[in-house]
Amino acid sequence: MGEQVRALQDDEFLNPGLFAVEYGEELWSTQTGEMGLSCQSCHGDASESMRSVAAGYPQFDEELGSLVNLEARINEMLTAYMDAPALPHESDELLSLTAFVTYQSRGIPIGVDISGEAERYWQEGQEYYTQRRGQLNLACNQCHDDLAGFNLRGDRISQGHVNGFPVYRLMWNSMGSLHRMFRWCNWAVRAEPYELGSGEYLSLELYLAWRSSGLPIEAPAVRP
Ligand code: HEC
Ligand code: HEC
Repeated sequence: MGEQVRALQDDEFLNPGLFAVEYGEELWSTQTGEMGLSCQSCHGDASESMRSVAAGYPQFDEELGSLVNLEARINEMLTAYMDAPALPHESDELLSLTAFVTYQSRGIPIGVDISGEAERYWQEGQEYYTQRRGQLNLACNQCHDDLAGFNLRGDRISQGHVNGFPVYRLMWNSMGSLHRMFRWCNWAVRAEPYELGSGEYLSLELYLAWRSSGLPIEAPAVRP
């Protein structure tokens, strides 16, 4: 990334992603749903209760019998614990709560569990990552491993790490989730994207989180 975007990310006053964190903090303590609860009612001070939580997502949930990412966990809280409706993908509310919870893990290295039941999803994610797709017939790894550092129509291709999500993208003029990025990368090769929150993207997310193992969380990152 260029100097200017880096400086914007590092500036606690100018990083536009921090507005989402602030809104998330407000939502954290706002009562919602039939039971009159807020996140804070059960979890108290997020800087303690949510410290390092995001670094372990996505993870396999025994009870649900599926992989869950942070967005899905937050929606589970709303529907199962608070009697409130789930928040739509990419809504300001869900992005902000996710950004706020993730922010509590700033500096903590990513470390997801890919043992046991999770292994099969990791495997699926790896297959997706290395499978050619779209009219351009390119796999994720061809850009993010082989062509990292090169330019694609004015964008400098990075190694495709996930420690900055949710991110503020200047191109989008808004916050966006990792799954929104996956859709963008699918479009870039003219492939049919999957749904936000789909099983395919969850497995891909687990694989990429594993691939980013040890990188400190720096959400909300700013991207060109
Ligand atoms: C009625 C109490 C209650 C409320 C309200 C509640 N939670 Fe939870 N939350 C729990 C319990 C209990 C767990 C652990 C069990 C589980 O994961 O299902 C948990 C787990 C979590 C986790 C996963 C922690 C981990 O270590 O993996 C996150 C993230 C979370 N809650 C966020 C939230 C957010 C955000 C809200 C508000 C939208 C919220 N919770 C509201 C009780 C609650
Ligand atoms: C044609 C090349 C290309 C392909 C193929 C591609 N991407 Fe990307 N990807 C990009 C470009 C360009 C960007 C924006 C610049 C950057 O951050 O790398 C990007 C951004 C990303 C980012 C955000 C990185 C960050 O730090 O903000 C992730 C994660 C990512 N891609 C994952 C994937 C995955 C998963 C696939 C396979 C489904 C994929 N990409 C396929 C070109 C590609």
